[in-house]
Amino acid sequence: MAVTINTLREYKEKGEAFSALTSYDATFAQVVSEAGVDVILIGDSLGMVLQGQSSTLPVTMEHMVYHTSCVAQGNKGSLIMADMPFMSYGTIPDALDNAAELMRAGAHMVKLEGTDWMRDTIEALSERGIPVCAHLGLTPQFVNKFGGYKVQGRSEKAAEAMIEHACELEAAGADVILLECVPAPLAARITQAVRAPVIGIGAGCDTDGQVLVVYDMLGLTTGRKPRFVKDFMAESRSIPEAIAAYAKAVKERTFPAEEHTFKA
Ligand code: KIV
Repeated sequence: MAVTINTLREYKEKGEAFSALTSYDATFAQVVSEAGVDVILIGDSLGMVLQGQSSTLPVTMEHMVYHTSCVAQGNKGSLIMADMPFMSYGTIPDALDNAAELMRAGAHMVKLEGTDWMRDTIEALSERGIPVCAHLGLTPQFVNKFGGYKVQGRSEKAAEAMIEHACELEAAGADVILLECVPAPLAARITQAVRAPVIGIGAGCDTDGQVLVVYDMLGLTTGRKPRFVKDFMAESRSIPEAIAAYAKAVKERTFPAEEHTFKA
């Protein structure tokens, strides 16, 4: 049966963890969905892992629509979440037009990066039938404001603000919250504070779901490996086996382990 937003809500109610992985083409989408991964994210990380850019900022709507339609062709029942790229949701009319394009290309949900300033945009999208994931914490489109890729929410003040933003965005209509690179205790507090399913990356093992960039978990990404990445290919004989091992490890909550987690 196809995964929907209701499936993710049921997982949260039952306390069952769910998995998400990025994919950017039909072949990976098929392998990922057949391995039992619940959510496929067409991340704007494609700017870095496919295009070789040094950030996600050069990614355009044209790129996202193209890769979303490729993924939709290969998908076998996972929920498809597509990133809205940098500045594609700077105004509400832009957000509506651009989200509609991604939904027409095959997305079931769009993901936006930011904080409480996205409230009205999320409300407008949600009221018009577009499910939204609000991405908080280390939001890579803000790398130039952050001055690098840094763990967020480390001070009590920043942690309180993030909890407040998650609650506000849920109230505005966000169906899913995604937390990137936040201390595990803070991610656990946010997961408890909202009814929406919470997906983590570098956010510890207490979120409702986990996501990774597929090339990272296959050990293909060159350069410095982030702390939260595990190379599942190291113990597998094939890509489908590695992806199935990831989905299983997330379900059994054996991934992420202590060594993949930021404590404070
Ligand atoms: O672009 C992406 O792949 C993402 C994940 C890292 C969550 O946003």
